[in-house]
Amino acid sequence: MKGDLLLVSSIIVLMHMVCGCPEKCLCHQTSKTVDCRNQGLVEIPSHVPPETLILQLQNNHIWRINQNAFSETPLLKILDLSNNSVSNLSSGAFQGLRYLQVLNLTKNLIHYLENKTFSSLPQLKELDLSSNSILTLPETLGNNTGNITLLSVKYNKLQRLDRILLESLPNLKVVLFKNNPWQCTCHVIGLKLWLESFLYRGGISDGIICSTPENRKGKDLLKVPYEMYRACPPSAAHMHLANIHHHSSEHRSSLKHTHHNEKGESSHSDCEPKPKPRPVSLRHAIATVVITGVVCGIVCLMMLAAAVYGCAYAAITAKYHREHLAPVTEQRSPEEKEPFDSSLA
Ligand SMILES: *[C@@H]1O[C@H](CO)[C@@H](O)[C@H](O)[C@H]1NC(C)=O
Ligand SMILES: *[C@@H]1O[C@H](CO)[C@@H](O)[C@H](O)[C@H]1NC(C)=O
Ligand SMILES: *[C@@H]1O[C@H](CO)[C@@H](O)[C@H](O)[C@H]1NC(C)=O
Ligand SMILES: *[C@@H]1O[C@H](CO)[C@@H](O)[C@H](O)[C@H]1NC(C)=O
Ligand SMILES: *[C@@H]1O[C@H](CO)[C@@H](O)[C@H](O)[C@H]1NC(C)=O
Ligand SMILES: *[C@@H]1O[C@H](CO)[C@@H](O)[C@H](O)[C@H]1NC(C)=O
Repeated sequence: MKGDLLLVSSIIVLMHMVCGCPEKCLCHQTSKTVDCRNQGLVEIPSHVPPETLILQLQNNHIWRINQNAFSETPLLKILDLSNNSVSNLSSGAFQGLRYLQVLNLTKNLIHYLENKTFSSLPQLKELDLSSNSILTLPETLGNNTGNITLLSVKYNKLQRLDRILLESLPNLKVVLFKNNPWQCTCHVIGLKLWLESFLYRGGISDGIICSTPENRKGKDLLKVPYEMYRACPPSAAHMHLANIHHHSSEHRSSLKHTHHNEKGESSHSDCEPKPKPRPVSLRHAIATVVITGVVCGIVCLMMLAAAVYGCAYAAITAKYHREHLAPVTEQRSPEEKEPFDSSLA
């Protein structure tokens, strides 16, 4: 045990001397990994070798990440800050990490994120924001989120999530939502629609369990029928649809106003659209039209058949009468008429 410790500490000292490894960290040169786990660090260590690809900072007490904190290590691919005390993320915290693929911020104290925070991470693939205290997420995670395949926001304090944010992540494969106080009032329809389409496209999610309102508590959002949202004001539907299609800033600001409104369904402005009920009723309408069409078609065919049969029968009967009865009467009539005529005369 003592030998091990001695060996480890001598390696640390050696590394530190050879390549400028930060105090308290282990630098593995071949894997270009710097391991600073469980060291009681309160800040991002300095003197991390510039060629580092993996920086492990988990299980420390780091509470602040300064602007340009990682400018010394621009090649980082994996940055693990899980289980720390980060509460404020300055918008330039991750600036310059052009190759960063995995950013793990789980188990921190983050309650707020700026929309520029992840802007300079064009290769970001996995973003773990789980187990924080995030109340709201911005409408975008920046202008460089096209490569994100995994997003975890589980174990936070999110009541809602803007569909626009999710739509700005075209390559998302896994999204983890669970254990948030999701508010399943009118505004959630956008999220429900998105989630249905995401799962349909083969995406993976742990689902959204409603927390409020009371009558939907504990219910899976996907199983809350759209009919429940009938009461949502239709006027809001246009706003929401416009929002989805045009991303108009005017509409966005009007949505933002609604974010501050926590009253729920009783409030009109809180309610987003119910775009889905339309497709549903449309589908019903189409089904009704099709069924009606088929039934009418069958009835029409039967009527046509009956008419044709009737006409044919009538024609045949008429012909028969003409051919077999008419000659008789025609032949007889002159003879019969004459006696009549003569009798009359
Ligand atoms: C989190 O870090 C602390 C030290 O800061 C450690 O004692 C604890 O075990 C870690 N938790 C997990 C789940 O790793
Ligand atoms: C976090 O940022 C806000 C403003 O952005 C500031 O008021 C607050 O003091 C900061 N908290 C810490 C712990 O730095
Ligand atoms: C983040 O770290 C935690 C443990 O600290 C781990 O369970 C989780 O899988 C990591 N997330 C990602 C996206 O790698
Ligand atoms: C970030 O939010 C601000 C307002 O908070 C907004 O003006 C800006 O356009 C947003 N940026 C992006 C990239 O969405
Ligand atoms: C993304 O946003 C950052 C900061 O907001 C800006 O410096 C950069 O030019 C933007 N990139 C693109 C491609 O729009
Ligand atoms: C995704 O990453 C590739 C490199 O892996 C990069 O060329 C591309 O620009 C990135 N896409 C976006 C939308 O940032």
